[in-house]
Amino acid sequence: MADTRERNSAPTGSRGLEFRGLSKHYGPVRAVDNVDLQVPRGEFLTLLGPSGSGKTTMLMMIAGFIQPTSGDILLDERVITQLPPERRNFGMVFQGYALFPHLSVFDNVAFPLKVRRKSGADVKREVARALELVQLQALADRMPRQLSGGQQQRVALARALVFTPEILLLDEPLGALDRKLRQEVQIELKQLHERIKTTFVYVTHDQEEALSMSDRIAIVRDGRFVQIGSPAALYEQPATRFVAGFLGESNFIKGSVAEKRSSGFTYSSGGQSFRQQSRANGIAIGDDVLLAMRPEKVGVSVDRPENYANRVSGRVASWNYFGANFHFTVETDELGRIAATCPAWRMAMEPRNEMALWLGWDDDAAVVVKDD
Ligand SMILES: Nc1ncnc2c1ncn2[C@@H]1O[C@H](COP(=O)(O)OP(=O)(O)OP(=O)(O)O)[C@@H](O)[C@H]1O
Ligand SMILES: [Mg+2]
Repeated sequence: MADTRERNSAPTGSRGLEFRGLSKHYGPVRAVDNVDLQVPRGEFLTLLGPSGSGKTTMLMMIAGFIQPTSGDILLDERVITQLPPERRNFGMVFQGYALFPHLSVFDNVAFPLKVRRKSGADVKREVARALELVQLQALADRMPRQLSGGQQQRVALARALVFTPEILLLDEPLGALDRKLRQEVQIELKQLHERIKTTFVYVTHDQEEALSMSDRIAIVRDGRFVQIGSPAALYEQPATRFVAGFLGESNFIKGSVAEKRSSGFTYSSGGQSFRQQSRANGIAIGDDVLLAMRPEKVGVSVDRPENYANRVSGRVASWNYFGANFHFTVETDELGRIAATCPAWRMAMEPRNEMALWLGWDDDAAVVVKDD
């Protein structure tokens, strides 16, 4: 696949894949609602959102199987909205691997090349290369039913990559695999992307998958993008309540700004006052604020913790052991229920329901989010 690499060493000024004001309406349903997007060449972009948010519709419009109601799709500044799917040269992988059951692994992977009327020698060489990419050279003569789910999914990948597509579109490709296998194929898929540097547009509603594989994640809700950014940016700086709650677990704290400070503000909630760092200028005394705070940023202790900017006491409403972590839900008078996780190796107590606990967190543990 050497020519994939060459083709993807982007000529200067190439902008990759773009949506401009892209919409798809089905009667009153706005499956995709006037979105803009730019995906530079070679990027691994994930579309992450709940069921029915418009992810597949976006992917099918990129592929050319669904015509937009309005707006355009561009590839390197060329409008391709009207271009039929077979002339776009994009590879696709779906959830059900959809291999041809009566064809061997080799013939499944060779299929797109035969459609493109490649010669026998080319087919042999290209299929061997594609199978090597997904490490299935040894299984070329097997039939699909003789393969595990993960192996079948890799054949589907090889089939989508064999004709060196400009873009690879993947719609929940690992959805049918069990958790362990899914994690393995995730790692392989990411390594594959690093090797071939083809643009990947990847659809999932699995947040861990999105966090661990993507260069950038676009959070989709009701046919729109709520926030687009690197996994760490979205996890650490979610812009809205929806993003904070959808990508990982979050506590939400409602407060009223009581005092402004040079590096942030204090807010009151449930009659107690808490400190929060913030560079936001638009916050004024008396404002209502909503804060999102990850459970792993909340410290748990039996004794009152002095080493945090903020603390509150409560009682354990529930706790669970997850091997690596303990997860607590703690009922507090001031803030309602707060979730906290604690690495198991650091636990210095035996957890019990109803036990009294202190929670502590720093003034940079939470972020101010918009309530959407
Ligand atoms: N052919 C159609 N006719 C009418 N409505 C449609 C059609 N296709 C999709 N929709 C609607 O458009 C919206 C977006 O659907 P889409 O399949 O893109 O969601 P999705 O994000 O892929 O969801 P999932 O995670 O469940 O696969 C949904 O409300 C869906 O019901
Ligand atoms: Mg879908």
